[in-house]
Amino acid sequence: DQLEKVCIIGSGNWGSAISTIIGRNCMKLPFYENQVNMWVFEETVTDTSTNEERKLTDIINDTHENVKYLPGIILPSNIVAVPDLATACQDATLLIFVLPHQFLPKLLPIIRKSSHPSCRGVSLIKGIDFDEKTGQPILISKGIADAMRSGKNDYFPCGVLMGANVASEVAEGQMCESTLASNFGQPADEMTRQLFDSPPYFRVQHITDVAGAEVCGALKNVFALGAGFIDGVGLGGNTKAALLRVGLLEMAKFCHMFFDGIHDDTFTESCGMADLITTCYGGRNRKCAEAFARERYSKKSTTTIPTQDNYDDDKSKCEELWARIEVDVLKGQKLQGTITARDAYKLICSRNVLDEFPLIKVIYEISYEGKPVESIIEGIHVVSSSPSSS
Ligand code: NAD
Ligand code: 13P
Repeated sequence: DQLEKVCIIGSGNWGSAISTIIGRNCMKLPFYENQVNMWVFEETVTDTSTNEERKLTDIINDTHENVKYLPGIILPSNIVAVPDLATACQDATLLIFVLPHQFLPKLLPIIRKSSHPSCRGVSLIKGIDFDEKTGQPILISKGIADAMRSGKNDYFPCGVLMGANVASEVAEGQMCESTLASNFGQPADEMTRQLFDSPPYFRVQHITDVAGAEVCGALKNVFALGAGFIDGVGLGGNTKAALLRVGLLEMAKFCHMFFDGIHDDTFTESCGMADLITTCYGGRNRKCAEAFARERYSKKSTTTIPTQDNYDDDKSKCEELWARIEVDVLKGQKLQGTITARDAYKLICSRNVLDEFPLIKVIYEISYEGKPVESIIEGIHVVSSSPSSS
């Protein structure tokens, strides 16, 4: 049988961290080719060992370290950084998508042309798209599958790997779990699970609920902004626990309202509750939102009861502040929760269900409309969807 050829598309913080596991597994599993290409968006960076400006791909291939996005971690020697996308995915049979989703659309036609006709994909991307023309939410995995199918063949199944997986902790080999959601059929589901599974440290469970897993992964980034607002205004663990509880309920409601076939068990997998918790304590979205809240709260600290009147009139200031924080705090890494908050908000507005999601609503209004950050507590209450549950 032909060996599977894996290509990792993306080489940021998570892409580099997961490449350590994929690389080691491709060395030992008999059904994968040893070499794993990793597409790297080429940039010039300072090589910390020589202090010279060099191409990131050259540094990765020489030193096996992604000095910009995952410094201090040595990648397996079979991970090969490739700057040309078509070359990276030439004849690949398994594509791992792991990059901020705003960069995907222009890459997909190139990937489609050069990958193998019977290729499949796994998306590690946490986000969701909203199609303003149709008013439909679009799973990133569905967008990938549709774009990959519109070419030379109509076959391209796409699953997702979602979970409580802060990249730096995974790269250090700290124990955690992750959820692979796919419907490839056997043996492909199990072969794919084994590509990621690295017991006892990185334990992957397989489920079939792709939409549930993916929406949880996207929305937890929005609630992590709320967690950062709570930290930034000096509220404690009890308030954050309340936000987590309501966030989980809004996640479940969102999944059931907009997607078919959601399994309630998904919310207690690593991709559900566990990812929500870790991101609200240790993630980049939380960190950036805390910085946002500290900056805005100090300017508004005379306000005790937020009202519409004390909104900041200049809404563009919010977007500018997020952009500045992303650069200052993340240093080239990307913030996903703000984009997802905007898309989720547009969707619930277009469906006239804004009042069913008070937490998503207030997180959006604080993030984009100048609402005072201390208003976050307004969103922490549950709107029951049926009279019997009230
Ligand atoms: P990152 O935020 O660390 O890095 C940004 C990446 O974008 C870099 O690889 C950079 O080269 C690339 N990039 C910048 N400009 C580009 C352009 N014009 N075109 C193409 N690529 C460009 O990335 P990440 O942390 O690997 O995140 C990728 C996805 O994984 C996101 O959806 C994120 O939510 C998800 N995720 C991240 C983590 C984590 O802990 N970092 C964990 C789980 C999931
Ligand atoms: P952040 O992007 O907020 O760091 O979240 C990482 C993550 O998805 C952990 O599972």
